[in-house]
Amino acid sequence: MTYKTKTVLITGCSSGIGLATAKYFQEKGWNVSATMRNPADAPELATLPNVITPALDVNDKASITAALQATLDAFGKIDVLVNNAGYALMGAFETLDEDQIRRQFDTNVFGLMEVCRAVLPHFRQRGEGLLINVASMVGRVPLPMYSVYNASKHAVEGFTEGLVYELEPFGVRVKIIEPGAVNTNFFGRSSDRANATGESAYADISTERLGVMDAIGPGGSRPVDAAKVIWQAANDASSRLRYSVGLDAHALLAARRLLPETFFRTMIKHSLSPVSYNTLGKFLYRPKA
Ligand SMILES: NC(=O)c1ccc[n+]([C@@H]2O[C@H](COP(=O)([O-])OP(=O)(O)OC[C@H]3O[C@@H](n4cnc5c(N)ncnc54)[C@H](OP(=O)(O)O)[C@@H]3O)[C@@H](O)[C@H]2O)c1
Repeated sequence: MTYKTKTVLITGCSSGIGLATAKYFQEKGWNVSATMRNPADAPELATLPNVITPALDVNDKASITAALQATLDAFGKIDVLVNNAGYALMGAFETLDEDQIRRQFDTNVFGLMEVCRAVLPHFRQRGEGLLINVASMVGRVPLPMYSVYNASKHAVEGFTEGLVYELEPFGVRVKIIEPGAVNTNFFGRSSDRANATGESAYADISTERLGVMDAIGPGGSRPVDAAKVIWQAANDASSRLRYSVGLDAHALLAARRLLPETFFRTMIKHSLSPVSYNTLGKFLYRPKA
C-alpha cells in the first residue's frame, strides 16, 4: 500500500477540528471521507481532490452505514477512523434536564460507539486499522460547570482505553486526542447551555464561570493545531495512546499527574474565576494569529 492511497473517515467535518483535520489530511495526499450531518455546511470540502462528503449523523445508524458504504465505494478501504463529532453541554448538573443529558451522551458516547461498531469489522477483516477518538482534556481533568460533558468525555476515555486490549489481537490500534481549549464553534453555536430546569440557585456562579470560558475560547489553540496532533497520532506507529493539544492541556494533564489531589482540585476551583482569568488566564489564552 502506498502512502498516498491511505484513507481517513472523519466525523463532524462541518466546522472546527473536523474541518481542519479533513483539509490537513487532504493536503498531505490522503483520501478523505469528510462526513458531517449536512454536507451543504462545508461545500468547499467537496471541491477538493480525493475528498468525499457523505452525510453522517452519529445518532442515525442508517446514515452511518450509508457513509461507510460510500467511503468504501469511493476509496476501497478505510485506514483511519477519526471520531471527532461532539459538543458540550455546559452548566451545573441541576440546571440541566434529562433530555439535554441524554442528548449529550447520545452524541458524544453512544453515537461514537455506533460509528466504531460500523467500522471495526472492516478493520478486523483487514487485520489493520487505526481508531482515533477525540476526547478532551476534561476527560481526565473535570472542570466546573461541565459535569455532564466531563462525564461524557470520561466515558470516551474509558471506552477507548478498554478497546486497546480488545482490538490488539486483530492488529487494530487505538489512540485518544485530548484537546484543551480550541477556538471553534464549541464555545458558540455547538454548545448547549440552556437553564432548562429553571433552577436559579446556580445563576451567579454559572454566569461567572461560563463567562470566563467564553473569554477563553478565542484564545485557545487553532483548529489546525488539533489537526496536526491528529495527523501525528495517525502516523505514529508506536503504542502511545494519548495526545494532548495546546499548552493548557499539556500543563493541566501534567499537573494532574504530579500534584497532590487536594492541591490540584483547589487549583482547578480557582482557575476559572474572573480574578484568575484577568491575571494569568488572559496571558495564557491570548488570541492566536
Ligand atoms: N473546541 C474545544 O475547545 C474542544 C476541546 C476539547 C474537545 N473538543 C472536542 O472536539 C470535537 C470537535 O469539536 P469542535 O471544537 O471542532 O467544535 P465544532 O466546531 O462545534 O464542531 C463540532 C462538530 O461536531 C458535529 N456534530 C455535532 N453533533 C453531531 C451528530 N449528532 N452527528 C454528527 N456530527 C455532529 C457538528 O456538526 P453540525 O455542524 O451538524 O452541528 C460539528 O461538525 C468534539 O468532540 C469536542 O467535544 C473540543
